[in-house]
Amino acid sequence: MDSFDIFLITAPGLETLLADEATELGLDVTSAIPGGVTVNGDWQTVWRANLHLRGATRILARFAEFRAMHLAQLDKRSHKIPWTELLPQGASVRVDATCRKSRIYHAKAATQRVETALVETIGATIAKEADFTIRVRIEDDLCTFSLDTSGESLHKRGHKEQVNKAPMRETLAALFLRAAGYDGTAPMYDPMCGSGTFPIEAAEIASKMDAGRSREFAFQNLQNYDPDQFDALHGTAVPQTAPTFGSDRDAGAIRMSIANAERAGVAAQFDIKPISDITPPTDQPGLVISNPPYGGRIGNKKPLYGLYASFGTRMKSEFCGWRVAIVTSEPSLAKATGLPFLPAGPVVAHGGIKVRLWQTKPL
Ligand SMILES: C[S@@+](CC[C@H](N)C(=O)[O-])C[C@H]1O[C@@H](n2cnc3c(N)ncnc32)[C@H](O)[C@@H]1O
Repeated sequence: MDSFDIFLITAPGLETLLADEATELGLDVTSAIPGGVTVNGDWQTVWRANLHLRGATRILARFAEFRAMHLAQLDKRSHKIPWTELLPQGASVRVDATCRKSRIYHAKAATQRVETALVETIGATIAKEADFTIRVRIEDDLCTFSLDTSGESLHKRGHKEQVNKAPMRETLAALFLRAAGYDGTAPMYDPMCGSGTFPIEAAEIASKMDAGRSREFAFQNLQNYDPDQFDALHGTAVPQTAPTFGSDRDAGAIRMSIANAERAGVAAQFDIKPISDITPPTDQPGLVISNPPYGGRIGNKKPLYGLYASFGTRMKSEFCGWRVAIVTSEPSLAKATGLPFLPAGPVVAHGGIKVRLWQTKPL
């Protein structure tokens, strides 16, 4: 099997941005559909996608596909999949099957047939918490088998141990930075940085670091994994030319940011400061990007109007020439800043809340 479909999962609303990132990386993007992007490639493409993409949550490899009209056929054809070439003997595996518009309509029975094939071919242990997850989609009688090659969600870069309240996922932060036109050549500042996600992610982008350099992936336990070939895909970081900054009024948050940046090996700079005191951290204008509290997850909304207004006032009075971007759930909170926002970006699902990116031209 030389090339196959590889599905890059992302938060709904961010598909186009992820497709752009994948194209920039040289991947062969074939479609963007709700929830993700399909690329065509081989196992090295799977490794590269996991290691380099900043915006994908998981990478699924579609390793088998056949038609089955009834369960006995599913059973027989599932046994014929060359499992031994893919999974190690005795691997723990979880199977999730879904059925749509198909003669096989019983997902539980379908799951069980595939599980049996795995037990009988590679002596698999079937478990809910398993080393490998296989998704079987049966649609119009076509059975598609996908393996989750990432393991833990890719927003876990592997060097952030401390998170504050309501952290932004690294994958979302990376795509919001992309949406705001951040390319690492101008300074970046988050004045409500919490555990430092934006400044750290931006510093990594500016230094051209591999997103997944500090973590492991499920594909590293597959039969076809070659550690030397994978090592060769790792890039070399370059010195960061434009600085990234974060501040927050919460001293605990800043301690976390500093510790997280150290673990990530980036030079993001942090400071304790309330919004009412912020000034540009550097002379060269750049991008202010932040996700201020939005009430849905921490506390109530009403007191936040004052905070957004004070943020907007500070931007207008002190940050001439800077572009401003905020991620928030409430159009009325964005409006409370009084900033000249361009039309808001697409609605993005973030941990049960729908958020959008609001950005300005240079002030
Ligand atoms: C939603 S959190 C940001 C999370 C962050 N992006 C992360 O990934 O960890 C909002 C942050 O705004 C900070 N904040 C709230 N009011 C503030 C104020 N008046 N001045 C400065 N920071 C403030 C909070 O301490 C909190 O860390």
